[in-house]
Amino acid sequence: MDKPVILTGDRTTGPLHIGHYAGSLANRLRYQQTHEQFLLLADTQALTDNAHDPGKVRRNVIEVALDYLAVGIDPARSTICLQSHLPALAELSMLYLNFVTVARLERNPTIKDEIRARGFGRDIPAGFLCYPAAQAADITAFKATVVPVGEDQAPLIEQTNEIVRRINATAGNAVLPEAQAVIPAAGRLPGIDGKAKMSKSGGNAIALSASADQIRSAVRAMFTDPDHLRIKDPGRVEGNVVFAYLDAFDPDPDGLAELKARYRRGGLGDGAIKARLEEILQTLLAPIRARRAQLATDPGHVVEVIRQGTARARERTEATRQEVVAALGLFQL
Ligand code: TRP
Repeated sequence: MDKPVILTGDRTTGPLHIGHYAGSLANRLRYQQTHEQFLLLADTQALTDNAHDPGKVRRNVIEVALDYLAVGIDPARSTICLQSHLPALAELSMLYLNFVTVARLERNPTIKDEIRARGFGRDIPAGFLCYPAAQAADITAFKATVVPVGEDQAPLIEQTNEIVRRINATAGNAVLPEAQAVIPAAGRLPGIDGKAKMSKSGGNAIALSASADQIRSAVRAMFTDPDHLRIKDPGRVEGNVVFAYLDAFDPDPDGLAELKARYRRGGLGDGAIKARLEEILQTLLAPIRARRAQLATDPGHVVEVIRQGTARARERTEATRQEVVAALGLFQL
């Protein structure tokens, strides 16, 4: 039996960080055993809010691909492909825009939140407003039925399925499958400053490529419990970034439960919990950093991986585009 198709994507706006690892990359390592997995380097989508800096979007194609390979994504098992070089995605996007209203795009909670976060006001790039239709094109072009996304992106999958149902209803048959959003149980990692979101642009992330010194100083600077002034005082675990990261990365849950209990009781300093976290992160990231540095010495190889993956993805997405056009009964030469 064919394996289910899974699609994930990352905007190429900066190197990936440990939040991506906890929430997504670790799962993708497992998915490549059980699913037919496509990883989309979403440079076109990155442009929807970075049109002023195409150089950044271009440079980070290689950076994100290096991150994929460094954590152990295997190009023989997973297909790494470049969005801007898959013309069927752009063509399906244009087609889908006829099956969605501006009002619906404006009501999409993901878009609403992101417009607010970016301070666009009324000056919203049209490409940005329409990116849910483009993401629907990404998902359906691969006929992905499983789409792991952060909680904040779940409304995009809902909107994808609305478009799928409209296309299928117009076509009179189920040419496109609906997709299911898979939200990682781990939830989102906060930034090292305690802000809700770790982000490439926010300066509050630990990159997968971080040096040992960068890891050390990030952990030292980490937000803990501002009321925990003396070691003997009881400390708060909730909202404490060090514990949020330990929850995500500590391989010893019993030891961690014990540590939390001691912290809550009082008598355990921030230095101790930070030392434990630092050791765990150093151990996790050292081999990734070494592999990444090794791969970075041969950028031609990375480009070749992307080229081959994109060629495979081009066939797949073009086949779907033709099916959709035929199913809708459009004129064909
Ligand atoms: N929106 C995703 C992000 O912000 C990137 C992305 C583009 C994506 N196309 C996708 C994710 C298709 C899943 C499926 O990182």
